[in-house]
Amino acid sequence: MAVFAAILIALLIAMHRAPHRETPDPRTMPPDALVGHERTARRWVFGASVLSAVLLITLLGADMLTDRSLSRLPVTDAVRIEMTAQQWWWEARYLDARGKPEFAVSSELHVPVGIPVIVSLTSTDVIHTFWVPSLHGKKDMLPGRSTQLVIQADKAGTYRGECAEFCGLEHALMAFNVSADPPDAYARWRAAQQAPALDPARDGSTGANVDARRGQALFLSSSCAQCHTVRGTSAAGSLGPDLTHVGGRAMLAAGTVANEPAKLAAWISDPQSLKPGATMPSSQLAPDDIRALVTYLGGLR
Ligand code: CUA
Repeated sequence: MAVFAAILIALLIAMHRAPHRETPDPRTMPPDALVGHERTARRWVFGASVLSAVLLITLLGADMLTDRSLSRLPVTDAVRIEMTAQQWWWEARYLDARGKPEFAVSSELHVPVGIPVIVSLTSTDVIHTFWVPSLHGKKDMLPGRSTQLVIQADKAGTYRGECAEFCGLEHALMAFNVSADPPDAYARWRAAQQAPALDPARDGSTGANVDARRGQALFLSSSCAQCHTVRGTSAAGSLGPDLTHVGGRAMLAAGTVANEPAKLAAWISDPQSLKPGATMPSSQLAPDDIRALVTYLGGLR
């Protein structure tokens, strides 16, 4: 921004001065004045070049130092996450201490503040790029190959991530959030994610619960269960995001829409209108059935 502003200011000064100044015609200038004129111009060009070079070298040095400290993060007791990019969403599998997947989330990651996180990156279809500008530089996610980066959030907060490699139609709608929580809040989140999904059949039978139970039955008997997993039920599909705790997420479809009942209903009935090209097919369910599904899924916190 500073460099951009400096260039614009220099340009504006030149534009303002040009019409007001009698520019001497070099053909009519005495030789001495011409030499002086050229010398001044050369000095300006030289000074500006040196300044640019110094700025660029300083930035390069800062970049290298940041890179070095990132690569030296201690990785013992690190949190391990396997990220798989797909057209156009993110699957994040959290691994236990022995490296076995414990649970999966999509597009909403949580990490503990001050603790390094090893993120393994891969892709199932085309090249995507993992990019959370406030935590690390970009890193490609390549089909059939696994790369790795180590991140560490020093401050609590939510860091936005984006896919930074054009990966098809919905590349622009491929976002995710990394929420950096204090360690105890992170531990609570992790324990909640490890638990299987809430089962509406086990609770009482209030009005909403009747809907949720009907929604669950629909979910398990329709095509939803062929693509999505809800741990604790028979739904174990792996093509789409794991929905075990989908009700607790802030956004749907990789940051496309807020996770509200109306948006969820719109997403289920016609995903193509919100995210054309998404692999989720439109459903042929009646509005009443969609409402039941939304109540069930919204309750999966
Ligand atoms: Cu994935 Cu762009």
